[in-house]
Amino acid sequence: MTTHEAGWAHAAGALNSPSWLRVPDDVNGLHPLLWSGTARRTDDGGVEVGGVDLRDLTAEHMTPAYVLDEADFRQRARAFRGAFKDYDVFYAGKAFLCATVARWIQQEGLNLDVCSSGELTVALRAGFEPSRIGYHGNNKTYPELRRAVHAGVGRIIVDSFQEIERLSEIVSERGFETVASATSSTGEGASATSSTGEGASATSSTGEGASATSSTSEGASATSSTSEGASATSSTSEGARATSSTIEGARATSSTGGRVNVMVRVTAGVEAHTHEYIATAHEDQKFGFSITNGDAWEAVKLVQQAEGLNLLGLHSHIGSQIFDSSGFEVAARRVLALHKRVSEELGVTLPEMDLGGGFGIAYTTQDDPSDPAQLATEMSKIVEHECRALGIPEPRLSIEPGRAIVGPSVCTVYTVGTVKRVELDGGAVRTYVSVDGGMSDNIRTALYGADYSCTLASRRSDAPPVLTRVVGKHCEAGDIVVMDEFLPADVSPGDLIAVPGTGAYCRSMASNYNHALRPPVIAVRDGETRVLLRRETEDDLLATDLGLTDMGIEEEQT
Ligand SMILES: Cc1ncc(COP(=O)(O)O)c(C=O)c1O
Repeated sequence: MTTHEAGWAHAAGALNSPSWLRVPDDVNGLHPLLWSGTARRTDDGGVEVGGVDLRDLTAEHMTPAYVLDEADFRQRARAFRGAFKDYDVFYAGKAFLCATVARWIQQEGLNLDVCSSGELTVALRAGFEPSRIGYHGNNKTYPELRRAVHAGVGRIIVDSFQEIERLSEIVSERGFETVASATSSTGEGASATSSTGEGASATSSTGEGASATSSTSEGASATSSTSEGASATSSTSEGARATSSTIEGARATSSTGGRVNVMVRVTAGVEAHTHEYIATAHEDQKFGFSITNGDAWEAVKLVQQAEGLNLLGLHSHIGSQIFDSSGFEVAARRVLALHKRVSEELGVTLPEMDLGGGFGIAYTTQDDPSDPAQLATEMSKIVEHECRALGIPEPRLSIEPGRAIVGPSVCTVYTVGTVKRVELDGGAVRTYVSVDGGMSDNIRTALYGADYSCTLASRRSDAPPVLTRVVGKHCEAGDIVVMDEFLPADVSPGDLIAVPGTGAYCRSMASNYNHALRPPVIAVRDGETRVLLRRETEDDLLATDLGLTDMGIEEEQT
């Protein structure tokens, strides 16, 4: 096993570590770009987030657990809101959504982008104002669209000709207008009441009768969960506050007089500089209408002609984990050219345009993300410049950051179960550290080779750093949590490992593979913990298994 005269731990350099990964000067250090704002190493060697020592948190709540730094999340949401003050900022709920986060988003003055009926349900039950919701998805069914329309979502982003047809039919259904124009204060029916605040008057497509929807019946039922969940969802008053207050900076465009606001998602032919599976605006993929082949133009005409639809503007999302604004620049140029054509040939000045999300975050020390202020400056310049060149007025812009808000706010804490030194060709040794979670709580590494970092969180160590692969406990060789990281050579069973940057697309993509129980999401703030999503139980897991009748259980017992 020994691969170096001083011992196996000294052979780390012999392994092929990625070129960007350096042996750390201090293996106990927390790189500020990777960790949420309040994370720090304590004097006695632990890791504290939101004033809570992860050792204490996991002693009470066990591992694995997602730990959400509330102050950090709110600060990032606020930073986007402030930097993009002339834009509408839609938080992309697909990154991570639960009732409390929906309320935080509303309180911080952001709008919400949902892309499924389930996400819409969370938002409505949390009391999120429907008119501030944008509804996405590339295959929305009749019932889903009908529900979104009747709930009064602020905008529907259409992605196919069939959807335009479905929407047109839905708005022409008898009784729709009555529902849509009702100013009921119940969640699902709240529909066409528009948002509060200055923004409401700033858009031509907003209903006149601006009035905030108050707390909803759905919202009330959302607070009736039991047991551990009860404490997590016991903030009825918070929900009520969120829905009744006028939030500065918030601005929503709601459906008007029975007409439903629609954006047309276009593919701008831009391939974002990122992994293929998460680049979404080049032509050979499922999202959007192609500008190049003319589908985008046809879609625009169809929506424009449809009596019950109000064309707000064009939507483009070019990919994810993007660090370079040149992709946005090319996309904006192409989308604005179409925007201009609409104005010239259809005589319609589209009031808005959405540039999507995709702003990168630091998962490892190789990543160098821009801050929101820098992004806002660059993106505004791009649009201003293009509009001037085209001789058109600037549309009101929106963006949809998900990862850049919630990603860095969360770390996942695991317990080490086993440590294995595996001898490789050439005599090098790779250390495999197995933890008590894996691809069921973070699929991104296995799915598209995402890189992460991690640290020993239960103690400080003076052992030399060794190149380590942190793996999960699932029955897949590809069940890798952190592909390459230098951890102290003495990492042992029972130690805690914390992985930063797991807020986006980890819990929201979590599964029950191998009948794993999905971990809790625990918010920390000012030394207090609050369970936002409780850990699943085996009863949760078995609740859908209809084979477990009384008879089946008896059979098992005999
Ligand atoms: C249309 C749209 N908007 C926004 C986002 C959010 O992207 P990110 O979380 O990378 O900011 C996505 C991600 O898939 C998306 O498809």
